[in-house]
Amino acid sequence: MKRLKDIAPAKGKLGVLLVGLGAVSTTLIAGVHAVRRGLAAPIGSLTQMGTIRLGKRTDGRSPLIKDFVPLASLDDVVFGVWDIFEDDCYEAARTAGVIAPDLLSQLKGDLSEIKPWPAVFDRHYVKRLDGPNVKKGATKRDLSTAVRADIQQFKEANQIDRLVMIWCGSTEIFMTEGDAHASLSAFEQALDENDPAVPSSMIYAHAALKEGIPFANAAPNLTVDTSAMLELAAETGSPLAGKDLKTGQTLMKTIVAPGLKARLLGVSGWYSTNILGNRDGEVLDDPESFKTKEESKKSVLDYILQPDLYPLLYEKLCHVVRINYYPPRGDNKEGWDNIDLVGWLGYPMQLKINFLCRDSILAAPLVLDVALFLDLAKRAGMSGIQEWLSFYFKSPMHAANIYPEHDLFIQLMKLKNTLRHLRDEDLITHLGREYYD
Ligand SMILES: NC(=O)c1ccc[n+]([C@@H]2O[C@H](COP(=O)([O-])OP(=O)(O)OC[C@H]3O[C@@H](n4cnc5c(N)ncnc54)[C@H](O)[C@@H]3O)[C@@H](O)[C@H]2O)c1
Repeated sequence: MKRLKDIAPAKGKLGVLLVGLGAVSTTLIAGVHAVRRGLAAPIGSLTQMGTIRLGKRTDGRSPLIKDFVPLASLDDVVFGVWDIFEDDCYEAARTAGVIAPDLLSQLKGDLSEIKPWPAVFDRHYVKRLDGPNVKKGATKRDLSTAVRADIQQFKEANQIDRLVMIWCGSTEIFMTEGDAHASLSAFEQALDENDPAVPSSMIYAHAALKEGIPFANAAPNLTVDTSAMLELAAETGSPLAGKDLKTGQTLMKTIVAPGLKARLLGVSGWYSTNILGNRDGEVLDDPESFKTKEESKKSVLDYILQPDLYPLLYEKLCHVVRINYYPPRGDNKEGWDNIDLVGWLGYPMQLKINFLCRDSILAAPLVLDVALFLDLAKRAGMSGIQEWLSFYFKSPMHAANIYPEHDLFIQLMKLKNTLRHLRDEDLITHLGREYYD
C-alpha cells in the first residue's frame, strides 16, 4: 500500500460503469446530478459528508474525508450503464419510482442522455426477468470481449481517465465455487466452452478485471468470490469489493447485535421479515435468487455473536429471514424484527424493530462511496480484496484464512484507520492514556 505522496492525484474524469439500470443505479445517478446542481444534499455518503478525527482529541483536527484523501469530485464522474431494457436513465428512474417526479423532471436533460448498452444476460441465472436489449455472442469469451469494447468506446468518447465497475444488476441464482472457478485458466476455458458455471455477472467482472478496472459487487451473487477472479485481479492490479450492500434490515442488525453482545445479553431468537414491492423484490420472489440473498443475510449474526465463544448466550439462537414480494409498497420496504433476549439469571425479554425504509435511498450513497474509494485504492496500488470497505457490505469479502468482520463500528474504524495510514497519520487506538498521564 502506497502512502499519500505516491498516490496519483484524482485528476481528469472518472467513468463509473454500472451493470443494471434499476432502482439503485437510477437513484445514484439522479442523486449525483441533483447534488452537482445544488438541488439536494448527499446524505448517507461518507465520502461527501463524513469527517475523520486526526491526532489527539485535544488537537481539534477533523477534516472532511474528501479533503483528507484525494477522491474524484462528483463534477468529474461520468456514468456508463448496461441493462436488458432499452429505457434511458430518465425513463428507468420513472419506472423505479424512487425519486419524486418534480426532481426528476429538473434532471431530465442529463438523465435522458444516459442510454444502456445491450446487456450480457441469460435467463437461466435470473428466472423472473427477460428483456430485449441483450448482446449475442457465440461464446461467453466473445461476450466478455464485447463488454470490453463497450468500455473502450465509452472511454474514448468521453475522454475518461480512470474507471470503476459496480454490479447493480439483479440477484442471480445461488451458486458455489466449483472446478471452473478454481484458477484463471480453468475459468477462461469455461468461458470458451460456454460452461453453465459462468453466470452473466462473472462475464462483466472478467471484462473489467482484464482491463485492470476495480470491480465491486452490490448484490449477493458469487461473481468475484472465486480463486479465478482473485488471480486475475492480482495479475492486473485491480481492487475488489463486495458483496451485497448493507442497507435496511441487515444494517440495523449489525448496529443492534454488537450492542447486545457488548452487554452480554443472550439472544435465543431473531425473526426478520420484510415486505418489498420493487423489481428486486420480484426477482427475489424466485426461490433460487432468494437462496443467494438468504445466505448473505443469515451469516451476519453468527459472526457478530460468536456462539463458539459464548455458547450459553448464543448457541441456541434461532435466526429466520423472510422477504415477501408485495407490489403496493414499491421501493419503500418495511422490515420487522422480533428479537428474543435473555438477561440476568435467564429472564426473557423482547425487542421489536419496525423499519420503514427506502431501499434505494439507503443504497445509492453506498454505491457512490464504494466507487470513489475503489478509485482511490487503484491509485494507491491496493489490489485484490479491499477489506477496509467491509463497512458497505452484508457479506464482506475477506482472506480465506480469516472470518469476516460484520460489526459496523469495527468496520468504520478499519475504514478510517486505512485512510489515516494512507496519509501517514497516527492510527486511532482509543487507548487515551495520554490525557491522564
Ligand atoms: N436496494 C438495496 O437496498 C439493495 C441492498 C443490497 C443489495 N441490493 C442488490 O442490488 C441489486 C440492484 O438492486 P435494485 O433494487 O436496483 O434492483 P432492480 O431490479 O431495480 O435493478 C436491477 C437491474 O438490473 C438489470 N439486470 C439484470 N441482469 C442484468 C444483466 N445481466 N446485465 C445488465 N442488467 C441486468 C435489470 O433489468 C434491472 O433493471 C440487486 O441484486 C439487489 O439485490 C440492493
